[in-house]
Formats: sequence, structure tokens, C-alpha cells
Amino acid sequence: MQGLLCYCRQGFEPELAGELTQRAAEAGFAGYARTQRNDGYVVFACEDEGLSEALPWQQLVFARQKLALITELRGLDPADRITPMLAALAGTPRFGDVWVEHPDSDAAKPLAGLARSFGNALRPALRKAGLLSAKEDSRLPRLHVLFVNGDHAFLGIAQPADAAPWPLGIPRLRLLPDAPSRSALKLEEAVLALLRPDERETLLRAGMSAADLGAAPGGWTWVLTRQHLRVTSVDNGPLRQHVLDTGLVEHLRADGFRWQPAQPLDWMVCDMVEQPRRVAERMATWLREGWCRHTIFNLKLPMKKRWDETTLCLEILREQSGGLRTVRAKQLYHDREEITVFASKGGR
Ligand SMILES: C[S@@+](CC[C@H](N)C(=O)[O-])C[C@H]1O[C@@H](n2cnc3c(N)ncnc32)[C@H](O)[C@@H]1O
Repeated sequence: MQGLLCYCRQGFEPELAGELTQRAAEAGFAGYARTQRNDGYVVFACEDEGLSEALPWQQLVFARQKLALITELRGLDPADRITPMLAALAGTPRFGDVWVEHPDSDAAKPLAGLARSFGNALRPALRKAGLLSAKEDSRLPRLHVLFVNGDHAFLGIAQPADAAPWPLGIPRLRLLPDAPSRSALKLEEAVLALLRPDERETLLRAGMSAADLGAAPGGWTWVLTRQHLRVTSVDNGPLRQHVLDTGLVEHLRADGFRWQPAQPLDWMVCDMVEQPRRVAERMATWLREGWCRHTIFNLKLPMKKRWDETTLCLEILREQSGGLRTVRAKQLYHDREEITVFASKGGR
């Protein structure tokens, strides 16, 4: 079997399957998605070469991780799972690292212990077989072993430049005690997952200006002030006092769908809970009118047809914004029934 193995949030397998099917077809690849609800992963079977390169990880909305599938191993003997894996890997290039994982699903979480101990046993065996570099080497492809059961695993390959750099595709972020809300983690993760390292340096700099629409109690504003941005925080609700005490924040009690800045800003972020199309239209207006150059915002997804709604909202954004240099959208680990979008007109 060839194709892709992608991880996703539990329950969002139909969205990921729909996305992979549509995106593969648009890129000229025939294949089909194999998935079960609540598995936390989707296999996209496709015999053609080149599908993984055609669907970059950063451009996939519902994929936390994207791997090129090597094989699926069923009926593994708990006494020796390694021998069939080494046999399946014969002829593959040398890997720079190996990650043994399990889907982020209720059913698979108990496999965490097995994944850890099996990784410790597999690593020396791979080295002995010449399949793993002596030291971790991020220039080489990475081997992933995904246990979906004690006797059932997938083997996949990640190209480190085109894959999530976190085990299970989940960045481990710690909520700091003075974060005003858990939502702060969403913006922190968005910056990590949606901006490249060079963009984090050049696009988020001390002294830049930003608006935060739907800011209360102040989690996203607080994240921006930690980067020393000056923030206008728009919300009828209150902000936490220590956020105001940074001296970098102006709080406006106004409607985030009506308010516009007097001067163009570098950034606008938005976490207002509203109809996603209405949010997409308002974000497009901000970019088209030049009120901001970069934006990160959330789209709350409906209960049904969530992939259709995602494509529609991204189309609205592209069509109504008057030309964007970058649009990237992802369902982040800290996103529940929503996705997060980074859109930029370019410039510093
Ligand atoms: C999910 S909370 C935002 C949490 C915030 N990002 C944080 O990190 O603390 C959504 C906020 O949007 C605000 N909101 C909803 N509709 C709004 C509107 N039309 N104008 C301004 N704020 C709005 C609500 O008052 C609420 O505080």
C-alpha cells in the first residue's frame, strides 16, 4: 500500500478525508481515503509517486501530521514486533530519527507506554541494520511507527521540512500562571504552527501595532504584549488588570465588526465567536482596506459540512481581500470546533 498517513483531531476524520480527497484530485492524483470515525488518523491510499510533495503539510488544514505511508503491519507478534518492521524497511533510505507514536484518540491513548518502550528497543535494532543514523540528523527523513493497537501498526516517512516538528503533531505548550485565559495557548500555537521561523522574527517585532477583536479577558492581547506589540483590544467585556498594566494596551468597548483603526496597523487578530462567513468577510475587508497587513483569526466551524464551510470561507477571504501573499489555515491542537487562519498581504 502506498499513499499518505495523516493524523487529526479525534472526530475530524471525515473533514481530513474530504480535504485529502479533494486536494489530491485537484493535484491530479487518483486515490481514496480509508478512515473510521474517532480513529484520529486517515490513510489516503494512492499508488502514484509524488502525492506527498503535491500536498505540503503547511497547506493541509485538518492534518496535524503528514507522512508518506510505507506499509501497514497487522497481526504483529508481541514477542517480536521488530523483525517484520525491519523486513518492511529493507530498501528504504537511512533515517535521521525514529518516532514511535499512537493516534490522539481515547482508544489509542493507553498505547503511550508501549510506544515509549518499543521506541527504546527499536532504535538500536534500526542502527544495527544500518537504517538509522548514529546521531539524530534532521536533514534525513524521519521514520514514524504509529501503533493503532498492540498488534497493528503503520510505518510512515516524514520529510522534516514538510512535516509537523512535534510528536503526534502536537506542540507541547504550557499555560503560564499569568495567562488571562486558556485561549492564550491558541495564539501561541498559531504563531508556532502557521508562521515559519523567519516570519516569527520579521513579522512579530517589538513596537509593532495590533488590534485584538473580541479580546476579553485578554489572552491573545497578553501574548502580543509579550512580544512587545502595542495593542488596541476591542471587546465589551473586561480585560484582566495585569494586561492593562503592561502599558501597551488600549481597551475599547466597541463592536469588533464595526470598529476600524484610524491608522493602518501591522496586525489584527480576532477570536470573536460568530458565523464563520461573517468573520471571513470582515477579515477580508481589513486586508483589502489596508487596515492591517497580517492577521491571525479563528473560524468557528458549524456542526455539519465543516470541510465545505472551510473551503467557502477561505474562498471568501481570497476573493474579497484584493490579493494575499499568504493564506495558511490549520485546525490547531488547542482548537476544538474551529480552525485558525494566518493571512498576509506581505511586507514587514
Ligand atoms: C473566545 S472569547 C475571546 C478570548 C480571548 N481571545 C482571550 O484569549 O482571552 C470571545 C470574545 O469575543 C467577544 N465578542 C463577540 N462578539 C463581539 C463583537 N461583535 N465585538 C466585540 N467583541 C465581541 C466576546 O465578548 C468574548 O469576550
